[in-house]
Amino acid sequence: MNNLSLLTMKDLSVNDILDLLNDARAFHISTKDWQFPPRKALAANLFFEPSTRTHYSFLSAENQLGFKAVDFHASESSLTKGESLYDTVKTFESIGYDVLVIRHPQDEYFKELENIQIPIINAGDGKGNHPTQCLLDLLTIYEEFGRFEGIHLLICGDVAHSRVAASNKEALEKLGAEVRFCGPKEWEREGFPFCDMDENIPWADVVMLLRIQKERGASLAGMSDEEYLNRYGLNKERYGRMKDSAIIMHPAPVNRGVEIDTDLVECEKSRIFKQMENGVLVRKAVLKRAMGYAPFEKVSAMDPFEKVDLDHPAKGDDHAAH
Ligand code: CP
Repeated sequence: MNNLSLLTMKDLSVNDILDLLNDARAFHISTKDWQFPPRKALAANLFFEPSTRTHYSFLSAENQLGFKAVDFHASESSLTKGESLYDTVKTFESIGYDVLVIRHPQDEYFKELENIQIPIINAGDGKGNHPTQCLLDLLTIYEEFGRFEGIHLLICGDVAHSRVAASNKEALEKLGAEVRFCGPKEWEREGFPFCDMDENIPWADVVMLLRIQKERGASLAGMSDEEYLNRYGLNKERYGRMKDSAIIMHPAPVNRGVEIDTDLVECEKSRIFKQMENGVLVRKAVLKRAMGYAPFEKVSAMDPFEKVDLDHPAKGDDHAAH
């Protein structure tokens, strides 16, 4: 496996994470137009599961960086003739692709790909890992609070099937945040003990809702959407008890009116669409790293844990690091 692959958040040290977040911020502040040198690097997006945000933000990031990017369509490929995942990926390597972005329903599918030498970026494996979602969540939290140390996250809902919950627990605890989980008892996961949602709403700096993953076997077990919202979701009453400074996050897609009241999806505290915006920035940073480029210089002289107003960067922040 190429050591510039990104498969899980365990692959990244704290410094690696901070470098990627810094590069993502640089892509927003000072190096918006940064591209690879003229040789068109080739990227392929292999999505074996549906995706809107991850797939099309990778495509946007690839286009912005000057890649020649293609999408793989499993139903039109030789997978339909019985070719394996390994042989499919090995084929992309053999015919000259430089980097592959892969989403697959199998947990840790990448363990089958250890002999592949080009970098692989994991765009989600089963209920295992979603490292670029985690990085965009980290960027969103960092932008809001300017630090991770001591930040309280409450992750609510279908934790059992959530690769987002798994990646965020791994990274945020490493960065000094405290993460708690809540939801229906049947969706509790080993190593992710549940707490009481109502008791912990006023504690949280970030309330992160998770979608019920019906495609992985989760079900409401006869509960109506309204009943789920009132028992386990972010309804208006719980919203009213959040801290003034707290924010709402959700990896999306959102089931409006189920895990969150539809009126709260775009409310003042919601950062749900900001998360998507940040997804393009972190995916540019991850692709740049995968292609072997060193991190940009720090986007400001400030400590990486200090707050930077991305809309009004401090003077001197606009150096380009081409
Ligand atoms: N958050 C997320 O992974 O969304 P998609 O499934 O649309 O990519």
